[in-house]
Amino acid sequence: MQKNEGSAPSRHDLLVVGSANADLVVGVDRRPGPGETVLGSDLVVHPGGKGANQAVAAARLGARTALLARVGDDAHGRLLRASQQEAGVDTGGVLVGGAPTGVALITVDPSGDNSIVVSPGANARLTPGDIRAAAPLLATARVVSVQLEIPLDTVAETARSLAPGTRLVLNPSPPAPLPDEVLAACDPLVVNEHEARFILGEGAGSTPESWARGLTALGPRSVVITLGADGALVADTRGGDPVRVPSPRVDAVDTTGAGDAFTAALAWRLGLGEDLAEAAGYAVRVGAAAVTKEGAQASFPTAEEVAAL
Ligand code: RIB
Repeated sequence: MQKNEGSAPSRHDLLVVGSANADLVVGVDRRPGPGETVLGSDLVVHPGGKGANQAVAAARLGARTALLARVGDDAHGRLLRASQQEAGVDTGGVLVGGAPTGVALITVDPSGDNSIVVSPGANARLTPGDIRAAAPLLATARVVSVQLEIPLDTVAETARSLAPGTRLVLNPSPPAPLPDEVLAACDPLVVNEHEARFILGEGAGSTPESWARGLTALGPRSVVITLGADGALVADTRGGDPVRVPSPRVDAVDTTGAGDAFTAALAWRLGLGEDLAEAAGYAVRVGAAAVTKEGAQASFPTAEEVAAL
């Protein structure tokens, strides 16, 4: 496999800067409407959060991975640190205290689709100052991956703090208006349909190709649009037409965290020197494997499981 040329020596293939949540998951036959109560399954508590999920997904695939995040000094925080350590993630950047650990309230329906409400807790206390204080950790990474379950100021500080040659991958989830300096640093910006439409607003168009055209015009060097069972579409401003990347067909049990697994795999493979379409081709397989099992982190595949898909 091709290696990165000309970038600083790295100790981590991937540094994830992001959230860590305890996922409180209940299966439901259908979601309640306003004012309605439905009965669900027994409650299950899983380690989750888009940042923590990405870190575990990458480490499980074999990437040297670190996590920069904040958790509370509580049982959920200990659950999250333990799951990271078990996966082999470097947790030296996981800060403790300031608020209770973030919590995600998740319902999963019989088709495997989920609905999520996040209470950010300690994630909201991961500050730009925490990023500046972690400069030595940022300098160790080939690729830095961020999402939007931490404050936008912290994401912007991360984009400003990248070492020369370090690539930024951003999944703007949950979506929020993005400053130009953040958009310009993305390589790629990774969105699903919902996030693409949010960022583009009216006039987004109705095809992934039109979303890719609209998003690349906003400044990112590249864009990846995830299309669920239909795979992904990649667009690189350095040349070539947008490319569709198909996904293997699988039976979905629970889609929670599949997007995080996709983005982590993509970021890792880009750091190894693959081009966008190659890296996305690997990442769709990782995402497909992840939907075949329940939970977020528990569903993420090893490299051997991806090869067998
Ligand atoms: O992307 C899935 C994740 O979103 C869950 O693990 C939950 O914590 C929310 O952050």
